[in-house]
Amino acid sequence: MRTDIFRFFLAGDVFGAAGMRCATTLLPEFIQTARIDAVVMNAENATFGIGLSPEDAEKLFLAGVDVVTGGNHTFEKRDFWPVLESREQILRPANFPEGTPGRGFGIFEKNGFRFGVINLLGREDMYPMDCPFRRADAVLESWKAEAAPFPAIVDFHAESNREKEAMGLYLDGRAAAVVGTHTHVQTADERIFAGGTAYMTDLGMTGADDSVIGVDPENAVKRNLSQVLYKLEPRDGPGSLRGLVVDYDPVSGRAVRVERIALREKQ
Ligand SMILES: [Fe+2]
Ligand SMILES: [Fe+2]
Repeated sequence: MRTDIFRFFLAGDVFGAAGMRCATTLLPEFIQTARIDAVVMNAENATFGIGLSPEDAEKLFLAGVDVVTGGNHTFEKRDFWPVLESREQILRPANFPEGTPGRGFGIFEKNGFRFGVINLLGREDMYPMDCPFRRADAVLESWKAEAAPFPAIVDFHAESNREKEAMGLYLDGRAAAVVGTHTHVQTADERIFAGGTAYMTDLGMTGADDSVIGVDPENAVKRNLSQVLYKLEPRDGPGSLRGLVVDYDPVSGRAVRVERIALREKQ
């Protein structure tokens, strides 16, 4: 395994057709120009804004994504369930109850680097999942049995900022990066904690810019004016690829540099 700097890109929720277009057109060039070794992308909203189809998953892999993570919408497309079982590079949150299809974590290799990814779902203002903190502990503990240490990357798909910061600091020194997804609004709080863990509360969305977290504003605004639940449709239009680049030093076992990314489509 290589011992020089491992540079990985963590990308936020791909939303609808605009998100798929941003991912598949902007990502390949970004991987080249920024010299990215590995890409982890949350794609729970890729297909029409809800879930992920097997076809869209393959398009993301072709564009250079190495690991796809999920969230609260992962199980909404029934034809996707077998893919969760068969495709090791596709994760769903690890803190679903025992017996849930698919897997919530995995160990991967790319460009001579070995890395682990854990996908977790938050509970505050969300669902009564198994404890994501204890689940993270259990996975990290099980990885100690591996022959050599490797960086752990955590996608914490959660609503609450305080739960995300708590997770980041809980895992400081044990994970290479803890990043949040789900809110679709990129936060400007990227940093490296004292123990060497890269952190950002939300990677932001990969999708249409003039949208209400990915959906067309017309009905989203009408909902607010009327309190009637008008149907929400994904917004198409110019968008951005958003996320965080992390440089990780395998020798010290610490993240050494973070860079927030918001790459806009050319118009
Ligand atoms: Fe999302
Ligand atoms: Fe979500």
